[in-house]
Amino acid sequence: MIIDGRKIAQDLRTDMATQVALFGRKPGLAVILVGDDPASSVYVRNKGNACEEVGFYTEKINKPNDITQAELLAEIERLNNDDRVDGILVQLPLPKHLDANQVIETIDPTKDVDGFHSENIGKLMQNKPFLRPCTPKGVMTLLAATGVDLVGKNCVVVGASNIVGRPMAMELLNARATVTICHSKTQDLPNKLKQADIVVTAVGIAQMIQGEWIKQGAIVIDVGINRLDNGSLVGDVDFESAEKVASWITPVPGGVGPMTIATLLENTLIAYKAREEK
Ligand code: GUN
Repeated sequence: MIIDGRKIAQDLRTDMATQVALFGRKPGLAVILVGDDPASSVYVRNKGNACEEVGFYTEKINKPNDITQAELLAEIERLNNDDRVDGILVQLPLPKHLDANQVIETIDPTKDVDGFHSENIGKLMQNKPFLRPCTPKGVMTLLAATGVDLVGKNCVVVGASNIVGRPMAMELLNARATVTICHSKTQDLPNKLKQADIVVTAVGIAQMIQGEWIKQGAIVIDVGINRLDNGSLVGDVDFESAEKVASWITPVPGGVGPMTIATLLENTLIAYKAREEK
């Protein structure tokens, strides 16, 4: 069966729009884009559109490619102190001359709707999460939609990035699954995958994961978004062969992708409610 990320994301947005319509002050999200990378520009535009759909206040801040580290940090400080803004997101990757880690650490952790600040990552690791990284949290929402109990399940996460693989593994551990993290140096990946009841892939290599590596009846969540030479978008998983063995599988596009932005809005709502309660 196919997990319909578009529908699940739309349901989340509809639910949030209903809540927000009753609020006195709107939840606010500021998105900073440095430079004019085409893919990043599309993501930032989509984030802005999603905010408007659910009735959030949104501020899109475009900065030139040659902005200095000090100027960027000053912009974040301004947003840290702006009461209309509940969430701050700096679109990654940043130009090479900027220190992304220092940028992330400068965001007020209570406004860190990406969940990348060390304080929020630390809370996730301690199983006391506050703002959780959007893509892994969105994957947990998709897994919940299958109705499958994760407790004690063998999960294999392929990829160990700070944005997806590592927080994904913590999410699954917090759900009391047994978690294996694989990466580019893992020996005999097919054999590791064959043990998995749940596979989450975030490697960025088109159609690398073959259906014959997947255990019969496994759940397959494909975080990869890769463009083929012919222009079409595909995941890390060879969908055609994997679909035949999986019990549940996410398509690309239309699986995890729409969930990342819907979850960003969820996080902004969580940050908003935390500020309103203060
Ligand atoms: N670039 C790719 N994914 C992400 C994300 O989740 N957040 C931000 N800020 N930048 C990204």
